[in-house]
Amino acid sequence: MRSAIVGYGNIARLHEQVLTQQGHTIAAVCDIDPNKLKNAPGERHYTDLAEMLDHEEIDVLHICTPHYLHADMIIEALERGINVLGEKPLCISEEDIVRVIEAAERSKAQIGVCFQNRYNTANQAVKAYLQGKNSLCAAASVTWYRDANYYRSGDWRGKWATEGGGVLINQALHTLDLVQWLVGMPETLQGQISCMTLSDEIEVEDTAVILAGEHNHGFTFYATNGGPTDCPVEITLKADGEWIKLMPKDVIYGTRHEHYEDVAHALGKACYGSGHGALIADFYDCVATGRHFEIDAREAAKAVRLVLATYRSQGKPEIITK
Ligand SMILES: NC(=O)c1ccc[n+]([C@@H]2O[C@H](COP(=O)([O-])OP(=O)(O)OC[C@H]3O[C@@H](n4cnc5c(N)ncnc54)[C@H](O)[C@@H]3O)[C@@H](O)[C@H]2O)c1
Repeated sequence: MRSAIVGYGNIARLHEQVLTQQGHTIAAVCDIDPNKLKNAPGERHYTDLAEMLDHEEIDVLHICTPHYLHADMIIEALERGINVLGEKPLCISEEDIVRVIEAAERSKAQIGVCFQNRYNTANQAVKAYLQGKNSLCAAASVTWYRDANYYRSGDWRGKWATEGGGVLINQALHTLDLVQWLVGMPETLQGQISCMTLSDEIEVEDTAVILAGEHNHGFTFYATNGGPTDCPVEITLKADGEWIKLMPKDVIYGTRHEHYEDVAHALGKACYGSGHGALIADFYDCVATGRHFEIDAREAAKAVRLVLATYRSQGKPEIITK
């Protein structure tokens, strides 16, 4: 298929590697910064998305730009009937969630969002194991480390207007999505956020706590970018009375331990995981066959809605938008 990428920064390199491995043609790349385009692949380069879409015949647009641009770029492609594979988050406001879902429902094109960790072998195994179980709850933790240089590496980082939040909407969003995918969406939550380590550098939270759902249904969630180092993500689940411990590649079901290797090797930074290849292959198969891609706008909105409800909550019960 013919692909194009908008936003040729860190994660775009990973999309490029996967597309090349899977035999697709990168027809064009767009980045607002011409310096970024010097080493970019593709037959033609652009600094304006609309201009690229006016001139190129493409099957799939990969959106790898900062968070605040996602909604308008997704809508621009969907309105032209171009399939869109967007990086997370779907977008950063409730108004934009509604706009994107409406655009997706009007368009004949498909939208997919990169929650690639759903494709990890251990996560797939646990998802399958939980099928048919009723009483599900979880406790999850994301303890990572991001320093001032990380936030200085892009002027959109660390700001409400452009990143849309901190650790929750960026680093921990994958785990928040996994938790809701495994135990279901709660209707209400109480959340607290704070910025404890870099408050002179960033506006957004570096630490968050969420208490979601009710007794035996729902989850607690803890995330920080102020940890001592990047620790493995942990999710503890209770399913019909049995405890399941899900660490990235190891799962303990009661007392039974299983180790799962991922099918693909991680191509970029370790924190990206190895799921992009499987997710991109699945999305392109959906485009080719007409099968509906599961992580569509409505599905990808769930994690963002959990984040937005946490930001509104300030420790008080808050209804999660549907
Ligand atoms: N799925 C994952 O595991 C994962 C990992 C890393 C990043 N991401 C996501 O990918 C996205 C990009 O992150 P990144 O780390 O690559 O950021 P980055 O800052 O390295 O890259 C963003 C690029 O977009 C370009 N850009 C900015 N405005 C633009 C515009 N109007 N038109 C065209 N290009 C524009 C910038 O010049 C830059 O090259 C974010 O949404 C981030 O959350 C996802």
